[in-house]
Amino acid sequence: MPAYLLGLDIGTTGARALLCDENGQVLAVATAEYPLSTPQPLWSEQDPEDWWRGACEALRTVVAQAGIAPEQIAGLGLTGQMHGSVFLDEQDQVIRPALLWNDQRTAAECAEITQRIGAERLIAIAGNPALTGFQAPKILWLRNHEPDHYAQVAQVLLPKDYIRRKLTGVSATDAADAAGTLLLDLRRRDWSDDILAALDIPRAWLPRVFEGPDVTSGLLPEVAADLGLPAGLPVIAGGGDNAAAAVGSGIVQPGIVSSSIGTSGVIFAHSDEIALDPQGRLHTFCHSVPARYHLMAVTLAAGGSFRWFRDTLGDVTGHSLRYDDLTTLAASVPPGAEGLIFLPYLSGERTPHLDPLARGAFIGLTARHSLAHMARAVMEGVVFSMRDGLEIMRSLGIAPGQIRATGGGGKSPLWRQMQADIYATDVATLAAEEGPAYGAALLAGVGAGVFRDVDDAVARCVTLTTTTAPDDRAVARYDEVYAIYRDMYAILRDSMHRLAHLAIAT
Ligand code: XUL
Repeated sequence: MPAYLLGLDIGTTGARALLCDENGQVLAVATAEYPLSTPQPLWSEQDPEDWWRGACEALRTVVAQAGIAPEQIAGLGLTGQMHGSVFLDEQDQVIRPALLWNDQRTAAECAEITQRIGAERLIAIAGNPALTGFQAPKILWLRNHEPDHYAQVAQVLLPKDYIRRKLTGVSATDAADAAGTLLLDLRRRDWSDDILAALDIPRAWLPRVFEGPDVTSGLLPEVAADLGLPAGLPVIAGGGDNAAAAVGSGIVQPGIVSSSIGTSGVIFAHSDEIALDPQGRLHTFCHSVPARYHLMAVTLAAGGSFRWFRDTLGDVTGHSLRYDDLTTLAASVPPGAEGLIFLPYLSGERTPHLDPLARGAFIGLTARHSLAHMARAVMEGVVFSMRDGLEIMRSLGIAPGQIRATGGGGKSPLWRQMQADIYATDVATLAAEEGPAYGAALLAGVGAGVFRDVDDAVARCVTLTTTTAPDDRAVARYDEVYAIYRDMYAILRDSMHRLAHLAIAT
């Protein structure tokens, strides 16, 4: 009897369920959207009940669409947006809306964490500095600002783990997602008693930590009946969305790195051992591959910069522009855009500057520069920013032999060539790019015994299509331009900050 696998992604815009067979062929995908609320500037919240409604709808639809007997489903893997906090009381009720990964209200709590633990010690234990989006500062924020709510807390869960609790009645998490809380000891792959004690957070509030492919629990009979799935269906630990997506892209071996250009840009590298940037410019998290780690560099406005450019031009010209129009223009200009550089810090920057007040810029403009040069400079600036992350990884001993381009950056030949030339590495694309839900389904296959391990799942299911080799002349030209790009932030930092403060004051 063939076995089928389910993956469920609790994303920021919606829930996405995916069903594939044991060769990784996708049979059906279903999504259900839900809202995001910004009740105050810097806040970003969602109602966990909306996730639950979305998850149920997506699961019901995907099973109905696939037209298979539900008994043939071997396991369900969970993934989702990282870092969010769901606060539950003794009766398992949600106390307040969840604070999300992109919520920025916790700057004071990040300073408090750094002061209580020490910047170096925090990076040594948890792999990362205190960043506003992570879960630990959110718990402190609740204590500092909503003491009545804080007094009711009995559990704190990550988004996908709240859904696990609803599906199975069991609280559990996985090491990859747990690493994004800042409360995990990366070496032990379990909660850090030192950090918990320093922050006065009870360990009893946190769920048990499993490895990505482990079975955490089984589907409750009443939930199974409602969803049309078998009671007791094994639910697999899964992983945070980036780690799960990396499993689906085959980033599970040293030397293979992915470069994803969506709204943000992510360089993701597998690492057999913990590799820590002492300055904390990269995220170091546990991987969804047991006992392994990963490094992640984040450019906040990657595709977002290109979209800003397209939309702003569209507004000016009164015509809506297509990305293809802009890449055709950009391709008409040589690498380096004839001396024009773009800094993509439209939303501040995470890697490598960790600076919310960084600001974007065009530098080197002359009367000769046209729209085509500007379009090319925007694309190049995004890839330079991602190279910043890659260079830190290289300095930590990660040697990428191949970079897999995913998202918008994998779809256009110009983005692919530009990445190969700026990274000076072969760039490959994937046959099927299905994102985190696909990786969660593969992890479910490992947990359910369909695959031997994560490597076996990847070998059987992940195939590559195109490979783009770097062009030597373009590599040399880009090296020169990148050296100038790299100097710019330090030179302009002070002016960027003054401009940012001025804009905030007006
Ligand atoms: C990772 C991060 C986002 C979220 C939302 O550090 O903040 O990628 O996981 O998708």
